[in-house]
Amino acid sequence: MIDTTIIDIQTTQESRLAETNFDELIFGRTFADHMFVMDYKEGKWQKPTIRSFQNMSMSPASSVIHYGQSIFEGMKAFKNENGKFGLFRPDMNVKRLNKSAERMCMPKVPEDIFMEALTTLVKLDKDWIPKGEYSSLYIRPFLFATDEYIGVKASDNYRFMIFTSPVNAYYAKPVNVKVERHYTRAARGGTGFAKAAGNYGGSLYPARLANQQGYDQLLWTDSKEHKFIEESGTMNVMFVIDGKLLTPSLSDSILDGITRRSVLELVRDWGMEVEERRISVEEVLKAAEENRLQEAFGCGTAATIAHIASIADDEKVYDLPAIETREISQRLQSYFIDLKKFRIEDKHNWMLDL
Ligand code: COI
Repeated sequence: MIDTTIIDIQTTQESRLAETNFDELIFGRTFADHMFVMDYKEGKWQKPTIRSFQNMSMSPASSVIHYGQSIFEGMKAFKNENGKFGLFRPDMNVKRLNKSAERMCMPKVPEDIFMEALTTLVKLDKDWIPKGEYSSLYIRPFLFATDEYIGVKASDNYRFMIFTSPVNAYYAKPVNVKVERHYTRAARGGTGFAKAAGNYGGSLYPARLANQQGYDQLLWTDSKEHKFIEESGTMNVMFVIDGKLLTPSLSDSILDGITRRSVLELVRDWGMEVEERRISVEEVLKAAEENRLQEAFGCGTAATIAHIASIADDEKVYDLPAIETREISQRLQSYFIDLKKFRIEDKHNWMLDL
């Protein structure tokens, strides 16, 4: 039997590090030197490998291309000014990857192999982790079907990979969102809670229409009545109304975000009242009209906290309070940066030092 815990590593002969301009990174366009690859065949995980980041060849009949059995994770490694580096809550990502795998009829990735792969890859490419205040090494673990077969069935063969990408801040400025009253990101009974590639593919068209109308992102509503708020763009969404933090409760159409969980744990620690429940668009807009909506923000791995500047519904635009006045989201943002740069005590044990 193959010992999958020993990774076969071939380091690159031609590092691209020296020619990379870290000041001008476009999110997701620059890739570090190495990638992790492990195949699943004949009911077993095969030898794990690390190779230089490179193209791969695939059959045109690969089932992932036709039927979308593909899931991914997003996570980050951070480095401070003294060169100390680590990962934020990686245990949560492996658990969620395996929840997504179950929903999509895919094999689970053993947690120990995931962690070994991740830590080995990040340590090997540690010089690619930027030190800037809003910078990090974005990590993309993903799993996809590789059967060369176009009959509709769950694949027998899969590939699990991880590559990494140095990034700066995701959004340069607060976002203007539009309430989506027609299209949906995810339906009840669907795959919205999983990080399935198709969820993102299906969101592109409504997002493009919103962009053409001058909005940055959408505020997604439920698929049945388009009345209740679900997420915003590719993120979970939160509101501060009358001093309380409100966020839609989890369901099978909402992603169990790791930043979402962390925000909720933190604000509860800070003594703030939190409500996880169904939140109607009307409730939020009424609060905005009555100047009781103090803050609105998206939270996710890529942006961490993304302030929402305005919400538009049916041509009416609700401008939200100035960003400087937003105590909770500002405090959260500073807390996350300080924690990820190892400047404050890690009370919850969220950072994995490498
Ligand atoms: C996140 O922020 O967590 C995301 O899912 C965005 C990613 C797809 C780029």
